[in-house]
Amino acid sequence: MDSFSTLIRTASHEQHVEAETSTFMSDLLGGRLGVDAYARYTEQLWFVYEALEAGAEKLASDPVAGPFIQPELFRLTALERDLAHLRGPGWQAGVSALPATRAYADRVRECAEEWPAGYIAHHYTRYLGDLSGGQIIRDKAEKTWGFEKKGDGVRFYVFEEITNPAAFKRGYRELLDAVRADDLEKQRIVAECKKAFALNTGVFRALGEEFPLSA
Ligand code: HEM
Repeated sequence: MDSFSTLIRTASHEQHVEAETSTFMSDLLGGRLGVDAYARYTEQLWFVYEALEAGAEKLASDPVAGPFIQPELFRLTALERDLAHLRGPGWQAGVSALPATRAYADRVRECAEEWPAGYIAHHYTRYLGDLSGGQIIRDKAEKTWGFEKKGDGVRFYVFEEITNPAAFKRGYRELLDAVRADDLEKQRIVAECKKAFALNTGVFRALGEEFPLSA
């Protein structure tokens, strides 16, 4: 039987392609959007990571989700620095969650509070993605909008404390393979992962509607 890390990756492959090829992501990576769209997207990420990381301290002692809580992954401080750069020092007063973002953050919070194994699905979907494809987005953002390399504006994509992302990802997959869950619970985690991808696609869809291309 496949390892759990392989299972979750292959089972969510289709959803990954869907998120990756969404109109908003394609336009962003194609350099067709203004920095305001990028800032709006970064705002949405703030709500998602607020939900992911607000519950992290409590989950750190959880037998199932605990091993996944690794402070070197935390993104909230980086996001706040990016937003201060993108929106100015008063950024916090101006941010708002799109309904799709609200739904996503609510689901993350619900898992964090009631279902630690489900939280792992959300943790995996975001952080392993940020360590992977996130680097492509960073490179594009730096080139398109002229942010300093790995500086303010793209700090979200820079994991200062992870010097070897490939090794970190290997370790993360080992954590997945060792997850304390029976087969049925693992299937539920996979289903939650697909849901996590769908929630991301929902946010992209809403952003795409807010930033349609005139051409
Ligand atoms: C245009 C945007 C994206 C690009 C270019 C992209 C690209 C990639 C690439 C190249 C990998 C493989 C890295 C490796 O083999 O280690 C990867 C993995 C991953 N991506 Fe994305 N991705 C994008 C969007 C997303 C989104 C929106 C999510 C979810 C929110 C996501 C979640 C993941 C996850 C969870 C993995 C790890 C798969 C695994 O090895 O288990 N990606 N991505």
